[in-house]
Amino acid sequence: MGLDTGDDAAVYRLNGEIALVQTVDFFPPIVDDPYMYGQIAAANAFSDVYAMGGKPLLALNIVGFPSSLPNEILEKILEGGTTKAEEAGVMIVGGHTVIDAEPKYGMAVTGIVKPGEEVSNSGAIIGDALILTKPIGTGIVTTAAKRNFVPQTILNKTIKIMSNLNKTASEIMIDIGVNACVDVTGYGLLGHMKELLENSGVGAKIRFEDTPILEGVWDLLKQEMVPGGTRRNLEALEHDVTWNNLEMEQQLLMCDAQTSGGLLISVSQKNSDRLIDSLSASGVDVSVVIGTVVERETLPNKRMIEMID
Ligand code: CO
Ligand code: CO
Repeated sequence: MGLDTGDDAAVYRLNGEIALVQTVDFFPPIVDDPYMYGQIAAANAFSDVYAMGGKPLLALNIVGFPSSLPNEILEKILEGGTTKAEEAGVMIVGGHTVIDAEPKYGMAVTGIVKPGEEVSNSGAIIGDALILTKPIGTGIVTTAAKRNFVPQTILNKTIKIMSNLNKTASEIMIDIGVNACVDVTGYGLLGHMKELLENSGVGAKIRFEDTPILEGVWDLLKQEMVPGGTRRNLEALEHDVTWNNLEMEQQLLMCDAQTSGGLLISVSQKNSDRLIDSLSASGVDVSVVIGTVVERETLPNKRMIEMID
């Protein structure tokens, strides 16, 4: 699997037993705390392997860092990455650093998957339940935090959720058997959902009421704490979503650019209760059915997604 399917990671089959999973991700700081930034960047880098149902094994650090900042900050960033790597059972085997105007951190990650067990973003089937494993709104919270608008408790919860690995959710979905998966990142929940639906040749009905949202996000939205990326995501979906009577703030929220978001899983009705139960029992942030995969032709104007409040 490579560029043509637009999957989260490339998969290269070595033999009948083992395939390599390869991916890279890095970005500038989204939180002030360098240690937490390192954790989030690492969790996010591993996430594309987890979305494919793979197991990350090795990672290389990718670092950009200004010569004007104290080295201790860089050490904290790398320490955060190492902590997450240990939790994920990943070995950091090297890396590369360049001088840069703004810090950047992430990883190139190599994982493995059993051929045939990889979960792509193109297997969703009509009738499937769509399940989400983390609440949305991290773009809004982190943007508001940059403007000092967020209560510390809400910011801390958001940081914790972004730093959580998608490892457990991925292992459970492999164990139970699902049809398709993506991780929710920069294009927002509906942007990544569109990818999955398009590649699968289907549509979806999504319930706003059932979509899990981070605490405090609603207040921030009302104060117009919206990242530029989120607005661009909404514009990009102009011809793909029927919003019905959702308000502008609700639309923006559904498109909010996420960092290290959860998995969006398409699973048969038959397996969906079992998946929800196992995810809940394992302490995953949330495990909620947010909608159903339907025939695209049955949706208004044949748009890919219909939102229901
Ligand atoms: Co991804
Ligand atoms: Co990625």
